[in-house]
Amino acid sequence: MMMAGRKLILDINSHDITPRVLPHYLKWISQYGETFLYWFGPHPRICITDPELAKQVLSNKFGFFPKVTPIPSILALIGKGLVFTQGSEWARHRRVISPAFTMDKLKMMTKRMAECAQPMLELWQEQATQTGGQREIEVGSQFQELTADVISHTAFGSSYVEGKEVFLAQKELQALAAGSILNVNVPGYKYLPTRRNLHKWKLERRVRNTLMHIIQGRLDSKDSSYGNDLLGLMMESCRSDPGQEKKGQILSINEIIDECKTFFFAGHDTTSHLLTWMVFLLCTNQEWQERLREEVLRECGTEIPNADMLSKLKLVTMVLLEALRLYGPVIMMQRMAAKDMTLGNLVIPKNTRITIPITIIHRNKEVWGADADEFNPLRFKNGISKAAKHPNALLAFSIGPRACIGQNFAMLEAKTITAMILQRFTLSLSPNYIHAPVQVLNLQPQYGLPILLTPLNV
Ligand code: HEM
Repeated sequence: MMMAGRKLILDINSHDITPRVLPHYLKWISQYGETFLYWFGPHPRICITDPELAKQVLSNKFGFFPKVTPIPSILALIGKGLVFTQGSEWARHRRVISPAFTMDKLKMMTKRMAECAQPMLELWQEQATQTGGQREIEVGSQFQELTADVISHTAFGSSYVEGKEVFLAQKELQALAAGSILNVNVPGYKYLPTRRNLHKWKLERRVRNTLMHIIQGRLDSKDSSYGNDLLGLMMESCRSDPGQEKKGQILSINEIIDECKTFFFAGHDTTSHLLTWMVFLLCTNQEWQERLREEVLRECGTEIPNADMLSKLKLVTMVLLEALRLYGPVIMMQRMAAKDMTLGNLVIPKNTRITIPITIIHRNKEVWGADADEFNPLRFKNGISKAAKHPNALLAFSIGPRACIGQNFAMLEAKTITAMILQRFTLSLSPNYIHAPVQVLNLQPQYGLPILLTPLNV
């Protein structure tokens, strides 16, 4: 079914991506109803699509619905950081890392985000001018590079060059992980010296050694602070006061290394695809592109946007939220029942996996209204909780204690880059674009997103 789904080409105005990305779920829902159970290798999985049940699972504060242990290649890629730790270990990580994501810290990072975007936009301008005012550009790959640059700068600041090296190795690990996502885990396989495993181990060593070197450099430095980037802020909140250890607030060096891996993966691929889908929607909805440009020029003029200006971009926020609803990069979440549980009228035996297909919940007409399949940013005019019949129906960043810690970071980055693009160019879809959303860890256009750029000042 997945292979047949991949052959479907959608109309550019259709946002009904489920037959492409989750065709088996659609079929099983039509056969068995909204809630159904299936087997993945030796594990039963129950699929829930009711936002109220999803809320009960995701908001459970007692750890009764923990995350599922990932396959080894995913763990190697993302690291045993915030995404995959559980219980008191997770709480300790979250306590240490949260201060790096407060709004005042993020505001400082906005300037960095804009500085990273500037060379890319200057290059676009130059290329468009060379070709007489219009240029076709595949923006998906450009956003991959840009968001990798942003996270390298914001995570590693002055150690950016070494940080970028880590991330290149991480990218290769990501390709390996993507190739094994549907494999059933074979016990012991990860220890075999296959060519694939040898390559993976080499990359893992490179990531670890480089990160170790950056961290050691800061520990040995005579500076009074470890730095204002994500790594520095994380190390700062672990700094022990002499004679008075901050109990329960320390991460070991190995844990800090794993968190760096987590930031890169969780923070760069997702945001890059959000930007790609945002541009796709602006190309296919020209009147909205115009409205957003008017708003950007009114609030920011032609200046580089700062955090205060960005906070006034209400329409840009609404379109980003609609992009997250229709093309949210994370299409599914998984949990398991730690003990026999009751969920609504379901009795769920211990160890059953629970899947929450975000893509399907985001298109439920009973929850979002008859226009659920259509692009309508106005549904968010009164905020997220009023956009649908259920206040927690938007799950793009998840909800509850384990909701995305980087959501404000991602939104600031996406707003900064969108505003800077709209200040300089009009965008339209290239005739070469093929509408074929696909999940490769995150949701992305299978054949990239070629667009036509025209500078505003030509
Ligand atoms: C458009 C961008 C993003 C999307 C759609 C997104 C989505 C998500 C989702 C759905 C989860 C919950 C996963 C689950 O529970 O199974 C999550 C968790 C997480 N995200 Fe994001 N994310 C984005 C950007 C970022 C950024 C920029 C960072 C960091 C710089 C980040 C770091 C994390 C971390 C560390 C977690 C785990 C939180 C925890 O378990 O306590 N994410 N994200």
